[in-house]
Order: sequence, then structure tokens, then C-alpha cells
Amino acid sequence: MILSNNDNNNHRLELDRVAFYGRTMSEYLMMFGLDDITSLKKYNAILDCPSGASSFVAEAAKYGINAVGCDPLFDKDLRILHEQGDKDIESVVQRVSQKPDLYNWEFYSSVDKLKELRKLALRHFISDYADGVREKRYIKGMLPRLPFGDKAFDLVLSGHFIFTYSYKFDFSFILTSLVELVRVSCREVRIYPIQKSSLQPYEHMTKLLDILKRKHRIDHNIVTVSFEFQKGSNKMLRLTHKK
Ligand SMILES: C[S@@+](CC[C@H](N)C(=O)[O-])C[C@H]1O[C@@H](n2cnc3c(N)ncnc32)[C@H](O)[C@@H]1O
Repeated sequence: MILSNNDNNNHRLELDRVAFYGRTMSEYLMMFGLDDITSLKKYNAILDCPSGASSFVAEAAKYGINAVGCDPLFDKDLRILHEQGDKDIESVVQRVSQKPDLYNWEFYSSVDKLKELRKLALRHFISDYADGVREKRYIKGMLPRLPFGDKAFDLVLSGHFIFTYSYKFDFSFILTSLVELVRVSCREVRIYPIQKSSLQPYEHMTKLLDILKRKHRIDHNIVTVSFEFQKGSNKMLRLTHKK
């Protein structure tokens, strides 16, 4: 179901729950400011959290890149995930088609192309899921507490969750989740996008980054990336342990 609000003439469309939805490797590279697939080979272990219905982990495996996806739904049956993925593609794409002016269409060119790419990601993910569960590449886990040891991954990617859905979470959940993502990384965490699904900036960003730095010794930088589907969403947050 889709909730629709009007806020000071800023039309906002928000999902009432987190969608089981996902993007492809090529979109991940742009979202997270990564050069190309080859550049991922320099990382020994990559975590994608939440992974959702993304094909990133499946595509990485094909290139011999060690990537693990984590999501609260990764104990579910393949059929349930497939149905949920299909349902959420319909729901999100319908929401986008109601307000096309909120998006840039250079990359996808049309709503049909957007849907095609979402279905492609879901198909790749579904076809890899059984092998991936067996090989422990898809692990059930839920922020703000992840089932991984300290510094288990050298690169941690977190797309379309923390700030996208920040209207559903309190400040403490967001802070604790970021600290947790940094805990399981030994090099860096990349978070995309840094604005809400309503296209508004996250209102507590300055306070959040300040607490991360002062209390948790976590450094940050905000990097402009080449991906901007939702207008204004061309920024990625990079977090690292303070040296
Ligand atoms: C939009 S998908 C993320 C897709 C992918 N990262 C991308 O950018 O294409 C959001 C996912 O967050 C998951 N999720 C919901 N609550 C969560 C939590 N507390 N911790 C981690 N993931 C959560 C949902 O199951 C859903 O699959």
C-alpha cells in the first residue's frame, strides 16, 4: 500500500513499509561511486546490507568477487521472495509513474525501462538464491544489530534504506545502525542516498555526523556520484574509522 501526504505543497509519496526491491550491479557501481567491476576485486569481502532483491551479490559471484547480502527476509522461501519482489516492483513503479517529475529519466528513459531493470535484478537474485544461501552469501540479518564479527568486511554498501526510510525510524535507530555498519567494516562504509524518499534532506544529518565523529570516532565525507534518479539524490555518504 502507498501512503500519500501533502506537506506545505511539497507532494510526498511514502511507502508504508520497506519494499523488497533491488537494483543491479551497474546501478550499484554508480550509486556508490565505484569505478567498475574490476575495481571491486581489490576488496577481500564486501557486505551489501540491506541487500533486498538486488542482483549485486549474484553478479559479484559470477565475477569471482566475494560479496555477502544481508536482509531480514533471507530466511524466507524462494517462492515467497519472488512473489514479494514482483508485488513490490508493481507498487514502487506505480508510485514513480504517478509523479514522473520527481525523477530524472536520462538513465532509465521510461517507466517501462525502469520496471524491466527491476525485474532483471529480481530474476538474477532469485536464480542465485538457493546456491547463495548454501554458500552463506545470503544471510538473514537486521539493523541495528548484524550477525557478523568486528571488521569482517572491507567494504560495506548500504543502499536505499537508512535515509530513504528515515521517516519510519527514530534518530537512535539511525545512529546505532551506522555505528553497526562501521563496526563490521575494516575499511569503509558507503551509504546511498542521503536524502529521504520524499526527496527532502535528512533533517538531523549535521547532528548525526557530529556524534559519529565525537563519540564513535567515525570520520565521514559526502561524495557526489553520477547516479541521480530521484532528483537531488546524487550524494553518497562514506564512513571510515578515525585514524
Ligand atoms: C529497497 S530494499 C534495498 C535494496 C538494495 N540495497 C538497493 O539499493 O537496491 C530495502 C530492504 O531493507 C530490508 N529491511 C527492512 N528492515 C530492515 C532492517 N531493520 N535492517 C536491515 N534491512 C531491513 C527490507 O527487507 C528490504 O529488502
